Amino acid sequence: MATTLPNSFFIILVGSVLLASILCQATGEADDFLVELNQSKPIKEKLSRFRVYWHDIIGGRNPTSVQVVRSPTHNGFGTVNMIDNPLTLGPELSSKLVGKAQGFYALASQEELGLLMTMNFVFTEGKYNGSTIAVLGRNAVFNEVREMPVIGGSGLFRFARGYVQARTHTLDAKTGDATVEYNVYVMHY
Ligand SMILES: *[C@@H]1O[C@H](CO)[C@@H](O)[C@H](O)[C@H]1NC(C)=O
Ligand SMILES: *[C@@H]1O[C@H](CO)[C@@H](O)[C@H](O)[C@H]1NC(C)=O
Repeated sequence: MATTLPNSFFIILVGSVLLASILCQATGEADDFLVELNQSKPIKEKLSRFRVYWHDIIGGRNPTSVQVVRSPTHNGFGTVNMIDNPLTLGPELSSKLVGKAQGFYALASQEELGLLMTMNFVFTEGKYNGSTIAVLGRNAVFNEVREMPVIGGSGLFRFARGYVQARTHTLDAKTGDATVEYNVYVMHY
């Protein structure tokens, strides 16, 4: 994996070909900084599905989700929580840990509990150890199913795109702790 430059680097370059050729026509300047890569065999895209449970632990001595921005309004709009939430295979926190959800969520809606989710799923198990997927989307937490885009990834999830569907599994009204089931559908190489 580390022996060659990341594929994403080259794809960005290849993606720039159009723009570069337009610029070249306009200016007549050389574009030899850009190398179009020829694949010896086409890389096949895979579709993967997996399920993890996301634990937002707010209460207790070891919170994984901490408020870093306080809302100036009564409805909580503007609140931001930074998270390093465990991702486990089963709904129990004690079940097998496969990674963490690192990032933040923010209360981005004034009308309802609608979050902006910005997080990386960082996997720490088996062949996925060190690979990540990036999730960015809207999470209306009181809807039964919330869909958010997977906008990228690294390692085994290079070029990732797809979506997640989140369903609240448990919500502790006293502490605010929540366990959410995430079904992830992702195209990658
Ligand atoms: C790929 O093929 C094009 C067209 O045949 C050629 O101009 C280019 O130099 C090749 N790139 C590499 C890295 O071999
Ligand atoms: C995952 O990778 C890290 C860093 O390379 C390593 O320290 C750790 O032992 C690995 N974990 C597993 C479960 O393979």
